[in-house]
Amino acid sequence: MTILDGKKVSNDIKNEIAEQVSVMVANGEKVPHLAAVLVGSDGASMTYVNAKVKACERIGFKSTLIELPEHTTEAELLEKIAILNTDADIDGFIVQLPLPKQIDEQKVLMAIDPDKDVDGFHPTNVGRMALDLPTFLPATPYGIMELLERYKVETSGKNVVVMGRSHIVGRPMSILMSQKRKAGDATVTVVHSRSKNLEAITKAADIIVAAIGISEFLTGDMVKEDVVVIDVGITRVPDTTKKNGYRLAGDVHFESVSKKASYITPVPGGVGPMTIAMLLKNTLLSRERHNAK
Ligand code: GUN
Repeated sequence: MTILDGKKVSNDIKNEIAEQVSVMVANGEKVPHLAAVLVGSDGASMTYVNAKVKACERIGFKSTLIELPEHTTEAELLEKIAILNTDADIDGFIVQLPLPKQIDEQKVLMAIDPDKDVDGFHPTNVGRMALDLPTFLPATPYGIMELLERYKVETSGKNVVVMGRSHIVGRPMSILMSQKRKAGDATVTVVHSRSKNLEAITKAADIIVAAIGISEFLTGDMVKEDVVVIDVGITRVPDTTKKNGYRLAGDVHFESVSKKASYITPVPGGVGPMTIAMLLKNTLLSRERHNAK
């Protein structure tokens, strides 16, 4: 069994990007600038956004964190987005999800200039991804593709089961892996909360991408020998033995599934760090595109 070490691979990628940034600096060019908008004070979102900002600092990017209160109105957020769209210094920005109830998420995502949409969530970029045109790939699916590619996991002709149909992970993952591309060319099945005979489907899978947000849902008896397992889940599970009162659990019951798997991602240290690395890669790409204009 091989651990797909997202922490290590993401560090490799960050070092590669840092190298490119130092060349930019040496040439007197502008460095990439990422902005992140955080509305409210959701604990997990704060952790993610802070990790993104910290990663920017480490590799030499400029970063701006915009924190707005929980009661921010949709109009106020749209106004902020309009400013970021026109600020020539900012190469890319993200609005951290989920957003408070009073704000229409889709409306917000559609307001982001597709040229600065480094999350790849704008309908234009989703469409471009589906058509296999140059775009910003959403960071989590992009990170999984990169992890599979760097570990040389064979995907061509394999039965891939994507668990979950979210706009951020499941849906794009199913599209990318069925495309003619690196870590693609797979036969993809998407399962979700209404799927029947789940176990028969997961048992036939060569590769499983679990992205349903239910802790330790996928157990060893649901998979075949030598399966490749990608765990996208990250849930806080109460744990009195921990100082902070919780532990992080994925969608995969690691202990039982890892006994059968040929490759598996850990939680934490698997997909999570890859997501951040690919967001940085998208921001670098955006800077290069702006430079070429
Ligand atoms: N919430 C969970 N994952 C993501 C992500 O990749 N981007 C943004 N903006 N919000 C998220």
